[in-house]
Amino acid sequence: TSAQIGVTGLAVMGRNLARNFARNGYTVAVHNRTVAKTNALVEEFGHEGSFVAAETAKEFVAALERPRRLVIMVKAGEPTDAVIQEFAPLLEPGDMIIDGGNAHFADTRRRERELRGQGIHFVGTGVSGGEEGALNGPSIMPGGSPESYESLGPMLEKISAKAADGAPCVTHVGPDGAGHFVKMVHNGIEYADMQLIGEAYQLLRDVAGYSPSQIADIFRTWNTGRLDSYLIEITAEVLSHVDAATGKPFVDVVEDRAEQKGTGRWTVQIALDLGVPVSGIAEAVFARSLSGHADLRAASRGLAGPTAQQLDEVDAAAFADRVEQALYASKIVSYTQGFHEITAGSDEYDWNIDLGAVASIWRGGCIIRAAFLDRIRAAYDTRPDLPSLLSDDTFAQEIAAAQDDWREVLVAATRQGVPTPGFSAALAYYDALRAERLPAALTQGQRDFFGAHTYRRTDREGSFHTLWGDDRSEVEA
Ligand code: 6PG
Repeated sequence: TSAQIGVTGLAVMGRNLARNFARNGYTVAVHNRTVAKTNALVEEFGHEGSFVAAETAKEFVAALERPRRLVIMVKAGEPTDAVIQEFAPLLEPGDMIIDGGNAHFADTRRRERELRGQGIHFVGTGVSGGEEGALNGPSIMPGGSPESYESLGPMLEKISAKAADGAPCVTHVGPDGAGHFVKMVHNGIEYADMQLIGEAYQLLRDVAGYSPSQIADIFRTWNTGRLDSYLIEITAEVLSHVDAATGKPFVDVVEDRAEQKGTGRWTVQIALDLGVPVSGIAEAVFARSLSGHADLRAASRGLAGPTAQQLDEVDAAAFADRVEQALYASKIVSYTQGFHEITAGSDEYDWNIDLGAVASIWRGGCIIRAAFLDRIRAAYDTRPDLPSLLSDDTFAQEIAAAQDDWREVLVAATRQGVPTPGFSAALAYYDALRAERLPAALTQGQRDFFGAHTYRRTDREGSFHTLWGDDRSEVEA
């Protein structure tokens, strides 16, 4: 039997993807560095479909029909290069290597270029949805050549999640590293969503005085409205969970130090390079870093907080409604920033990414899946050249309706000393974008003063410099 697809790297994501292909009727060759894992997969799940267990790289490659489709599911970075070096010499022109890990898109671009010389299609593919998604339907973000998508697309469409309207959550995102770039931004948005939800929780607890299980109920209610999303749903689950050992709320026994594997950080690093203000995503990454500085936090614990007169009585239920508004408005801003970064990446690398299609494939399967994404899809489908999500009438109107409450929430947070870096950064971004004038004019004046860096005028073309140390007359630069 020849297999239509092969998966090498059978840790949980690889194993579940292989099972997903098999359950969808494909014959799947499976391979792993340690053969025991390959055998375990076939023993445990062989009944789910048709697997071909391969012990060696040669056997694996020989088991695949041509052109070969070889999925690698190993750790990003060097392990991925090592696997490519092992398999590439065994492949022939037209074969495809699909990297389904969380690779950095720059690595994907390099690998794609190197393998193209050999006639091999390297398809860097974002896969989101965790273990469960890999098995039952992830959101899939393939890059690589259009030819490779012709061959792979139908299979990926079959194993992918389906949105509520039945559309498969996969599209050819664009050439070379486009898929991994979009997956990176997906994760940046994931960080921002999680941070905003965390701030909402903290406010409901510390300002409104709700307990974790009450907050779980509030999130459950929100999940029936416009915030309907996977992350809100699991937040309610986590908040209502009680620790068996102590009987305390689970959130109170977990160390409050958030870890990260790097994709959120990449989103911010690349945004800095591209000059895209992703302040909300950046605050989410920094909030995780801050949480991890145990010594710094311990050393700062005695710092003064708000005095008693700052601690207002709040109407808890009314405040909760306001937090919902603030969360929703901030969420619009994070997605605005994330989609801006995708636009900038697409322009920089000539990827021609369809933003509506990206929103569409994030509607199901992935970690940030949400009802909200269908509205983003609609916004870009109506106006593909939308300068920003904030320029969409519907989103603009929603923010207009939410903004007073959003501001009130931040006033309360500030008065009571509850940190809200995500909510605050989002509001600052919104207010800065709509401002008639920014203090950037003053920055330009300062730069011209100390470094003769010149400035442009609002009323005339050209670059100018003021002779600050002299008679302060203006010269054309
Ligand atoms: C997904 C997730 C997945 C993974 C993240 C977690 O889309 O399925 O984003 O890729 O869970 O890498 O990231 P951190 O460990 O950095 O929080």
